[in-house]
Amino acid sequence: MSSKDLFAHKSKEWDANSKRVQGAKAIANVIEDKIELNDSMHLMDFGAGTGLLSFSLSDKIGKVTALDNSPSMLEVFNEKSNLFGCETSIVNLDLSTQNLPEGSRFDGIISSMTIHHIEDVEELFKKFYALLPKDGFIALADLEREDGTFHSNNEGVFHFGFEPNELKEIAQRVGFKKVEVYHANTIKKPHAEFRVFLLVGWR
Ligand SMILES: C[S@@+](CC[C@H](N)C(=O)[O-])C[C@H]1O[C@@H](n2cnc3c(N)ncnc32)[C@H](O)[C@@H]1O
Repeated sequence: MSSKDLFAHKSKEWDANSKRVQGAKAIANVIEDKIELNDSMHLMDFGAGTGLLSFSLSDKIGKVTALDNSPSMLEVFNEKSNLFGCETSIVNLDLSTQNLPEGSRFDGIISSMTIHHIEDVEELFKKFYALLPKDGFIALADLEREDGTFHSNNEGVFHFGFEPNELKEIAQRVGFKKVEVYHANTIKKPHAEFRVFLLVGWR
């Protein structure tokens, strides 16, 4: 279990933000459009939080494993799990410092708005690669490069968004093929607009 839960004070109100809910739905729509999902698939939602992204895909897949280092976010996920259209399980773990049990496998790894919280993205992508079978996929959504004003407090934020092509190169370097980047959403805040991309790659 993580000793630090940066999301503990946010978890109960997380789903009350309608823009957040709509944003996850928009990302899910692009994933569905680009990847043929089926009800035998077991996906991992990396940094699943309360499950906004995986919930939106849950009618199309067989199982989701929600991985997150925040016990309080996973508690909210758990409270909602009976509403999902697929089987669910949760794993409370910090994937940047810990590993899943040997032999863990997923058909695909999805993620929304979490990669910017990970310092060493290449190491993370290597872990993703090792958790996938041949033809498994990653579908990772995050902010394009921003000026540091997206979060009101940047504690735990290692990247002010990403240059999508730089992330694409990292994915290709660890072995992912057919890596593509799509526009997935635009988050409008009073002071600025923030673009969200979806990176898709295949093992
Ligand atoms: C901005 S929230 C996004 C939550 C959810 N994906 C969504 O779109 O609503 C980032 C999530 O990533 C989790 N997280 C951050 N670093 C992590 C790590 N190293 N391992 C696992 N989860 C992590 C946080 O606890 C949090 O729930």
